[in-house]
Amino acid sequence: MYVPLLNFLLFSVILRLGATNFLKSARERHQNQVASTEDFRYLAASSDPNYINKVLDNILVPRVVGTPNHEKVFKYIKKELRLLNWHVDVDEFMDKVPIFGNLKFKNIVATHNPQAERYLVLACHYDSKYFKDIEFVGAIDSAVPCAMMLEIAKTLSQDLQKSKNKNVALKLVFFDGEEAFENWGPHDSIYGAKHLARTLHSNRSLINGENVSELDKIDMLALLDLIGFRNPQFLNFFENTKRWFLRLIEIENTLHEMNLLKNHYSNYFLARSSYGRIEDDHLPFLKRNVPILHVISTPFPPEWHTAKDNRDIVDMDTVVNINLILKGFISEYLHLSLHPPDASNENPIPIIIVFLCALTFFIYKNFVK
Ligand SMILES: *[C@@H]1O[C@H](CO)[C@@H](O)[C@H](O)[C@H]1NC(C)=O
Ligand SMILES: *[C@@H]1O[C@H](CO)[C@@H](O)[C@H](O)[C@H]1NC(C)=O
Repeated sequence: MYVPLLNFLLFSVILRLGATNFLKSARERHQNQVASTEDFRYLAASSDPNYINKVLDNILVPRVVGTPNHEKVFKYIKKELRLLNWHVDVDEFMDKVPIFGNLKFKNIVATHNPQAERYLVLACHYDSKYFKDIEFVGAIDSAVPCAMMLEIAKTLSQDLQKSKNKNVALKLVFFDGEEAFENWGPHDSIYGAKHLARTLHSNRSLINGENVSELDKIDMLALLDLIGFRNPQFLNFFENTKRWFLRLIEIENTLHEMNLLKNHYSNYFLARSSYGRIEDDHLPFLKRNVPILHVISTPFPPEWHTAKDNRDIVDMDTVVNINLILKGFISEYLHLSLHPPDASNENPIPIIIVFLCALTFFIYKNFVK
């Protein structure tokens, strides 16, 4: 009697835990598919550095919250996502900041499939830091990461569209107000991330009879920051997402062996963990148990928070390489079936004609006297 009762109790506890966390257990069970060499070639062929440059032409300007430039950049990002047929939500709110007082902030949240049960989230921040005495455009901090995310949206759009029936979808978050206005601290920084994490946490619904929040739907939040200069180094920061970080390393190795990375002499993603704390937009999500992948170059480059963080330090080969690794990762995570670029339905007739002409010529030369 004793043991069965204990078993029964344990069993019901396990059932309850499982039941209240069905999204969590789905995320923990989630496996990637492994991209094929054709997939990697397809992704490499669809890289669009011209588009990244075009985005930078539009957003690489001082864009402090509350300024006309900030509004222009906000509108540009939103417009590009809507042109690509992404569903775009704006999380808008007022907050009081040092120096400027009350400001309006706007996080941009985009998805290609708002009906999905779970999300892989890519995030960056689009505001730039205010400096009293220098013109700061924040190329790596974080115009380039934002441009990278738009390029991912653009080049993967068709493939993502075809995967709409899948349970997991891609979500892009462009945080506002990451930078401090005066001194970085819990009350002066990551304004947008704090607000969005709170909003998503309190937006609850019943799914399969369970009360879940919009945060529960996030499998993982991959935050891109300080990316764009030559040869950055990324370390693993979190034990619970280590298996995904290791997958990034493997994808980088495969792409390198396939010669699909340009000017790539040493790995960006290093098989090293650092559990030191870097404060960034992921914190309010981390605090609420959202799994985090922090793709930030450490150590920070010397240009960080100086006027030199501008277009001159942007190395497009590095940017394209990292985006290719990320696209490989995303297509594996979301189990995308990628279409090879036109090659598959290329018309075979011209090849046959060339062959027949050559044959005719050969026969003519050798047998017709
Ligand atoms: C809550 O989330 C649902 C599902 O994503 C969304 O449709 C709805 O607009 C959100 N509600 C609020 C108040 O943000
Ligand atoms: C979910 O639970 C919260 C308390 O955690 C409650 O306030 C909310 O009304 C519940 N929502 C639904 C849809 O049951």
